[in-house]
Amino acid sequence: MPRRRHRSRRVWPLFVWAGLGLSAAAGAAPAGDADHGRVLFESCRGCHAIDGYRNAYPNYPVPRVAGQQPDYIVDALQAYRAGKRNHPTMQAQASSLSDQDMADIAAYLAGQGNTQ
Ligand code: HEC
Repeated sequence: MPRRRHRSRRVWPLFVWAGLGLSAAAGAAPAGDADHGRVLFESCRGCHAIDGYRNAYPNYPVPRVAGQQPDYIVDALQAYRAGKRNHPTMQAQASSLSDQDMADIAAYLAGQGNTQ
């Protein structure tokens, strides 16, 4: 009897697409709450709000995110979460953020000028 081919199971991160679909259906990213974004951004400060924009150790450059366009921040975070942007650290960071979280962070960062 021929061996049955094991059905290949591709486990898609469905919840990611569901999340993206929601914001696409709304036509725009959800409105951001900058106060909540400030709280969420606490865990990002170690890398993104340091002098000279270099991670302390190991020493590597970190992009400036303060003062960015909200859409740009949300797009970047969604791309990390979906694996379209490939950077293990940021993929890990973005994986726990909802679309609303991203919008909140973007709203906070947009109001921060270019100094942080
Ligand atoms: C351990 C250090 C580290 C932490 C913590 C971190 N980031 Fe990042 N972040 C980076 C690095 C390094 C890059 C550049 C990655 C690349 O080359 O794609 C980056 C890229 C980004 C970008 C894209 C910027 C651009 O101009 O392309 C955004 C937006 C961002 N991070 C937001 C966040 C947010 C929000 C958090 C917290 C939830 C966070 N990061 C936490 C190191 C970090």
